[in-house]
Amino acid sequence: MSIRTLLAATMLLLGAAAIPTQHAAAREESAEAFPAGPGRDETFGTCSACHAYRLVAAQGLSRDRWDETMTLMTEKHGMPKLEGDERRVILDYLATAHPPKRAVGTGGFQVPFAPQ
Ligand code: HEC
Repeated sequence: MSIRTLLAATMLLLGAAAIPTQHAAAREESAEAFPAGPGRDETFGTCSACHAYRLVAAQGLSRDRWDETMTLMTEKHGMPKLEGDERRVILDYLATAHPPKRAVGTGGFQVPFAPQ
């Protein structure tokens, strides 16, 4: 099997697994399922208002990229704008609990053929 075929098959599998479960998971998930730390409840509450928190936890981003993501949620999707301490607490949690995937010890799914 060529790498291209394998990659296509992987994407299909991932797509099939991820899409139908998203809404069910949103109802079942709770903050306790995610890394403990200051700001977890606030972050979970804020970010799971519109979509599964799983969608957030699946990402691994730097603090700056999380900041951009929050801005995007506000500008594109109508999330109430967060500022000051409220924003800092959530950013601290996101950056600590969901750092870039290649950081040590975060585990998580790695796309096997992603450019390194
Ligand atoms: C007002 C609604 C709303 C809130 C609140 C919200 N989001 Fe989103 N978010 C969306 C929508 C709509 C999408 C795109 C549709 C989807 O994939 O479900 C999305 C998608 C995402 C994605 C996936 C983006 C991608 O490129 O795949 C991430 C990551 C994300 N949101 C992070 C967050 C974080 C972090 C928070 C909390 C700070 C948050 N969201 C709060 C509406 C919201």
